[in-house]
Amino acid sequence: MPNDIPEPQAVYAPITRSAIFIVATLVDGDAHADTVRAWCADVAALVRSVGKRVPSGNLSCVVGFASDAWDRLFGAPRPAQLHPFREFGPGERRAIATPGDILLHIRADQMDLCFELATQLIGRLGEAVMVVDEVQGFRYFDLRSMVGFVDGTENPTGREAVDFTMIGDEDPEFTAGSYVLVQKYIHDMKGWNALPVETQERIIGRTKLSDIELDDAVKPTSSHSSLTTLVENGQEVKILRDNMPFGRPGSGEFGTYFIGYARSPEPIEKMLENMFVGRPPGNYDRLLDFSRAATGGLFFVPSAPLLETLADRNPQPDSSHGSASPAAPSETLASAEPRVDGSLNIGSLKGTAQYE
Ligand code: HEM
Repeated sequence: MPNDIPEPQAVYAPITRSAIFIVATLVDGDAHADTVRAWCADVAALVRSVGKRVPSGNLSCVVGFASDAWDRLFGAPRPAQLHPFREFGPGERRAIATPGDILLHIRADQMDLCFELATQLIGRLGEAVMVVDEVQGFRYFDLRSMVGFVDGTENPTGREAVDFTMIGDEDPEFTAGSYVLVQKYIHDMKGWNALPVETQERIIGRTKLSDIELDDAVKPTSSHSSLTTLVENGQEVKILRDNMPFGRPGSGEFGTYFIGYARSPEPIEKMLENMFVGRPPGNYDRLLDFSRAATGGLFFVPSAPLLETLADRNPQPDSSHGSASPAAPSETLASAEPRVDGSLNIGSLKGTAQYE
């Protein structure tokens, strides 16, 4: 990462064996808002303290804030594209919005590390938040999703992952931040497993055992892989996913926790629209005949230094001019060099993107 760009949070953490996803709502009251702001400055130190106990465990945590929570906690300036989760699809197949102000995405190669960090982070938030969803995810064999197909193959990596997910000059106050969208899916595994493998392969758009993309001649336009492939001005626009299977077999619960990072909510929302409404409308993702979205939330992930300095913000005294924000990382950001190095130039996502 060039020196003049702030450190992002651990969005680019390596694939891990375990994860905990926590979504919490803010409890009303100034004292609680103070607690949450102060907590922002403690997150990095807590990750260091817990992570040092098993240095090879790759412990990391990403913290995100939903639109209303941002305004309540931090006021102006606000991330340009942060808005409440947008719902898509008809009643029987809907990407629903559910309550949630703060997201914690905790990853490590051992669940004990995730568990300890979640305990510390939630303990410090105390009465200031109410946890409304908490999911422990695990890696399933060779990176397979709950539905048995390898998940994550087409994820961007390295420089490409950064270009697709890190906010740049399009929102200088929030450079090195990202947007993250989460949905908790519950699968009808009986129904899914009753399908012939060839049918499942046409629904996903890849072969099951060998994880090879189906040839265009046989891949339906309704396949998951087709509907989530976006092309803008001849260039593919990607997002970074780190889905995790979860469940309780004894209770008949089998799920996928979907998590997608991008430098604008737009491509992720377009994928959701394609999946739930269909491209064209009606040509929807048949994976959804066997998967129900039980939650939905959109969050902004500030850069690491911004997260720390958010502790000093207080929107009450003077939110109208945005002067409540401490001087800070944004000033360094505005001077960040424009990228001239093969970046995929997806800054155009600022406006209304036209996907093919
Ligand atoms: C029911 C939950 C989901 C499951 C089980 C699932 C599973 C998969 C699998 C197995 C693949 C193929 C391998 C790969 O490239 O990763 C895939 C690809 C992909 N999925 Fe999902 N997915 C789910 C939900 C979503 C959602 C909600 C989005 C976006 C909003 C999404 C976006 C993508 C993208 C962008 C690709 C890569 C497509 C390509 O370039 O070929 N997925 N998913």
